Amino acid sequence: MQPPTLQIVRPPAAPQPLLRVRDVSLAYRSAARTVRATHEVSFDVHRGDRFVLLGPSGCGKSSLLKAVAGFIAPQSGSIELDGQAVTRPGPDRIVVFQEFDQLPPWKTVLENVMFPLLATGRLARGAARERAQHWIGKVGLGGFEDAHPHTLSGGMKQRVAIARALAMQPEVLLMDEPFAALDALTRRKMQEELGRLWEELRFTLLFVTHSIEEALVVGNRILLLSPHPGRVRAELNSHQFDLHSAGSAGFQEAARRIHGLLFEADGAAPPAAQEQVYRVAI
Ligand SMILES: Nc1ncnc2c1ncn2[C@@H]1O[C@H](COP(=O)(O)OP(=O)(O)O)[C@@H](O)[C@H]1O
Ligand SMILES: [Mg+2]
Repeated sequence: MQPPTLQIVRPPAAPQPLLRVRDVSLAYRSAARTVRATHEVSFDVHRGDRFVLLGPSGCGKSSLLKAVAGFIAPQSGSIELDGQAVTRPGPDRIVVFQEFDQLPPWKTVLENVMFPLLATGRLARGAARERAQHWIGKVGLGGFEDAHPHTLSGGMKQRVAIARALAMQPEVLLMDEPFAALDALTRRKMQEELGRLWEELRFTLLFVTHSIEEALVVGNRILLLSPHPGRVRAELNSHQFDLHSAGSAGFQEAARRIHGLLFEADGAAPPAAQEQVYRVAI
């Protein structure tokens, strides 16, 4: 008789991150010089995370986002989405930029939101229209389907960009300072609505900002980057904060501590970190 054998009914639960960024160094090369943008940055984003890249202007946040989007390739290190190396842009990673001119001005709101669905062959025209209308409603722009971007406020344009991105149902929504050019009240409202959308849909968000308050409000995890070239200073859990806690003593204290970590830290960065630009031997 065979001895009883153990039956494996499911593989061990491996909490694989959705997005895995490992030791990513980014640089811009031209004939005369190389500008380093990040140095060996690593982080993991899990499904449903609201992961924030926070650091001063020029520390390489946008460059990191572009690398994740597949627009630029790392000099060294690796980026994997769902176990697959990121080598080019794809509909599984959609970016919302800061600039209001990210919407083609000759297309209406409806056409703007439909466009990627059609261009990628994701949906036929009728289904794309239906899906676009759904998302336009979700971002509060029902009734503006036939408007052209130049007739919309900055906040409304950003809503269109968000609807266009979410309509594609990307694996990760990438946002690069999407609210930075908005007035303070609109920014707050947009942060609130992004939070509301996330509560409903639980999408995965990779969000870039240089605002400590915005990072605390938007993120559940925050990666702090040093000045250029960006290196990881620290990673923080921030799920306990939201817009409602914004003014509270705990929130202020967290903001103060992050400020310290970002700007008053240690001087521990090695000399190379200050060396942003160097000549390339030819
Ligand atoms: N296309 C580019 N060509 C050359 N240098 C660039 C380019 N884009 C960004 N940089 C440089 O890379 C560094 C990081 O830039 P960026 O990623 O835009 O930072 P952040 O988004 O944090 O402000 C900066 O020194 C910036 O000047
Ligand atoms: Mg930037």
